[in-house]
Amino acid sequence: MKKIVMFNGSPRFDGNNSTILNMIERGAKEHYAQVKRYTLFKMRASACMGCFGCRINDGKCSITDELTKAIEDLKDADAIVVASPIYFMQINGMVKNMYDRFFPLMNNDGTPRYGAKKIVTVYTQEMDDPHMHDSYFDFLAGTLFPSFGLQEVHRMVCMNANNPETAENNEELKREAYEVGRRLAAED
Ligand SMILES: Cc1cc2nc3c(=O)[nH]c(=O)nc-3n(C[C@H](O)[C@H](O)[C@H](O)COP(=O)(O)O)c2cc1C
Repeated sequence: MKKIVMFNGSPRFDGNNSTILNMIERGAKEHYAQVKRYTLFKMRASACMGCFGCRINDGKCSITDELTKAIEDLKDADAIVVASPIYFMQINGMVKNMYDRFFPLMNNDGTPRYGAKKIVTVYTQEMDDPHMHDSYFDFLAGTLFPSFGLQEVHRMVCMNANNPETAENNEELKREAYEVGRRLAAED
């Protein structure tokens, strides 16, 4: 059984990120994956303190909050799904904060501490060009994620996302999301 950990970085609990994650979760669960889901805006999630404790303490973070526990779930996960709204052409602050807190997932030599895992990224934006942020998304996939052992296997972009119901009204997008969940549950 595949273990999948999902993070929603949107402050709008019934917005587009949530809708897309609902469909990924449904596709995964209906194909017998174990899914854990976290909503970052509902959690106590401190920013990284920059103490370097995880560098000298076998990856143990000095902070103990709800995000610490969620990150511990990643150790034996097969895949993670991270959904972020785009704020000023980047992931929003909550998701950036989480990636900073992923520091313990990286060894001191920059190699991943807990082995290879898949990551599916979900990005929502108001702008209607789906490729507008391609170079930024490629940068995250090519430089940041490998340090954590994460290989981006799928990326979803939802446009016109100021309307919280855009994803709900897009059957093709929802089918894509369900299929992503199904594949995460099934594939090696
Ligand atoms: C502070 C702020 C900055 C934003 N910057 C951008 C942007 O640079 N490009 C864009 O296409 N949309 C931008 N948006 C629109 C959001 O991406 C959009 O509202 C969000 O993806 C909706 O996702 P949700 O329904 O899951 O909350 C911005 C929204 C806010 C609140």
